[in-house]
Amino acid sequence: MPRYEDTDKDKVRDAVDLVDLISTRTELRRSGPGEYKGLCPFHDERTPSFHVTPDKGMYYCFGCGAGGDAFRFVQETEGLDFVGALESLAQRYGIELTVADEDPAAAERRRARERLMELLDRAASFYERFLWESAEAEPARAYLRDRGFTEETLRTFRVGYAPSAWDKLFMASRRQGYGARELFDAGLGLRSKGEGRLYDRFRRRITFPLCDQRGRVLGFGARALGKDQQPKYLNSPDGDIFHKGDIVYGSHLARSAATKADEVIATEGYMDVLALHQAGIENAVCIMGTSLTERQVGELAKLGKTVLLALDADSAGQEAMMKASRVAAKSKLNLRVVPMPDGLDPADVVQQEGADAAREMVGRSVPFVRFQVERELDRADLSHAEGKDAAIAALRPVFATLPPSALRQELLAHVAGQVGLDEALVSSWLPVAGERAAAPAPPRGGGPGGGGQNGGRRNGGGGGFGGGGGGGFRDDERFGSSSAVLTPRVSPLAQAEGDFLAQCIATPDVAAEVLAGLDLDSFSSDAMRRVLVHVRDHLRAPQDGLPEDDAMLSRSVAKLVTKAADLAPSRAALQGQLANIEVLRLTGQIAEALASGTGGVAALRQRRDQLATRRDALIAQAIDEQASAS
Ligand code: UTP
Ligand code: MN
Repeated sequence: MPRYEDTDKDKVRDAVDLVDLISTRTELRRSGPGEYKGLCPFHDERTPSFHVTPDKGMYYCFGCGAGGDAFRFVQETEGLDFVGALESLAQRYGIELTVADEDPAAAERRRARERLMELLDRAASFYERFLWESAEAEPARAYLRDRGFTEETLRTFRVGYAPSAWDKLFMASRRQGYGARELFDAGLGLRSKGEGRLYDRFRRRITFPLCDQRGRVLGFGARALGKDQQPKYLNSPDGDIFHKGDIVYGSHLARSAATKADEVIATEGYMDVLALHQAGIENAVCIMGTSLTERQVGELAKLGKTVLLALDADSAGQEAMMKASRVAAKSKLNLRVVPMPDGLDPADVVQQEGADAAREMVGRSVPFVRFQVERELDRADLSHAEGKDAAIAALRPVFATLPPSALRQELLAHVAGQVGLDEALVSSWLPVAGERAAAPAPPRGGGPGGGGQNGGRRNGGGGGFGGGGGGGFRDDERFGSSSAVLTPRVSPLAQAEGDFLAQCIATPDVAAEVLAGLDLDSFSSDAMRRVLVHVRDHLRAPQDGLPEDDAMLSRSVAKLVTKAADLAPSRAALQGQLANIEVLRLTGQIAEALASGTGGVAALRQRRDQLATRRDALIAQAIDEQASAS
């Protein structure tokens, strides 16, 4: 990753039109002077709580707490790191970035890499054009038509056709100034054994560009057309640019829908992704076969907290699911399994049964733990006692991930029914997650309750429960991230500190004096102290100087800036807010003194009441001033 000149960040930020940028994800309306509002692109909502303040270059959602500047927005909507967001925005707004102190060798490597990426992109365009324009590609066009794909879908995914001749791409890239070596390094050429002559790797195949999260072509997967061709899919070889195990196919096209639903559908094949997108299920990607890697699970996690596995019901698909659950156990992924009809993949379902049936199928996903239970029961021979015992033994680790809950009870009843034994008896043989904790926690619809107590083992099973429970405080949706879960809960004191800082931003002249004299330690938490310091040091432009890797701080500052946009400058309000903080702090001290019996309560109360009177007078004054000003 190159390092860019520090000034580049400012150049790019100045060039970005935040309203225009965000409008690609959600419709914004003017809601006041210098303020826009819309439905939040980060969570599902029906009334807009997402604010954009273009003058300050920041956005904030009061529903889910997402917030930051243009870089943060691109990071979160496109799954990029800071440098990736910088590059992406620079490209979009035509800003040339300058690489800081790069040694000549590194500069050379970077340029070489850029050329290969360019070559790959041109190859994708070459194949695309060939698909749509050449006579030779007619069988390929007919094949794709027969499978039900529209031109729009195929163009969106830049599907193409690699001609059968040995050197079509080779000659074309030659003409554009690329050398044989480059064609080879890009994974597009093969060398003949004898004289080492170069020829095209992909021939007489339908091509699928494999892209990174930003949609840049890194390689290809190419499907055979004839029965005589092996393998069915030929992929680019792993090299400097392409690593099959690093990517999930279609992530750049699925990101927007997946982020919003906080849910991604993982299928096996390219065709499944195209078919699901065409059916309106745009949060689908594929893992390109069944040998799922840990890095791919990481990529899935970037797209959504819930991963719906829509893999073949065959044993390879099941193995991939087990692997996914082992990897997911290390993250906070919520895994669910989409029940697939025997012998069909999602593309088949879309084609044979239609888009609605595919949507219904996805809607029938079950928590991963339920899939595990079914799987063990299917494998077992329940016709005799030993078989039943073996099944119960196999189910022990599965149940060990399940805290007491309605889901557990349901699965237990199911198992008891299948083995034909009393439920209480079966239950006594199976472990409970968090069992050894002091008292069994009551079932909670929220997170994987007992999972947390379960020796830190938050695996797919526990996570699955979190999604499937549906009860508890998130009763508004079947699963996914409801705003209730995401809304940050802050203490009244932290809230008051935030209100004060927002007023500071709205009243920078007065705030400069007040903040200079303020005792840092008087703020309630480390987090609030960091916000305080940032605001104090960047009173007139709080959007400046935010560290690139501190999402928390960006979010908090975005919130303050958004609130401040609605506040009139006022010395009285600012001092009233400050008094309010003091009142709340004293209230806390009084509670502590009462609880510990240390005394001094009367004096604290007196001081608190004085301050409360002062606060109320200041706030009343602020309101009067504002009324007479308008
Ligand atoms: P499938 O054989 O299930 O193919 O392989 P598919 O995607 O359903 O394609 P159609 O419907 O038969 O046309 C699933 C995925 O595994 C990878 C590809 O990514 C493919 O989409 N694969 C498969 C390979 O990489 N190489 C192969 O030889 C076969
Ligand atoms: Mn298929």
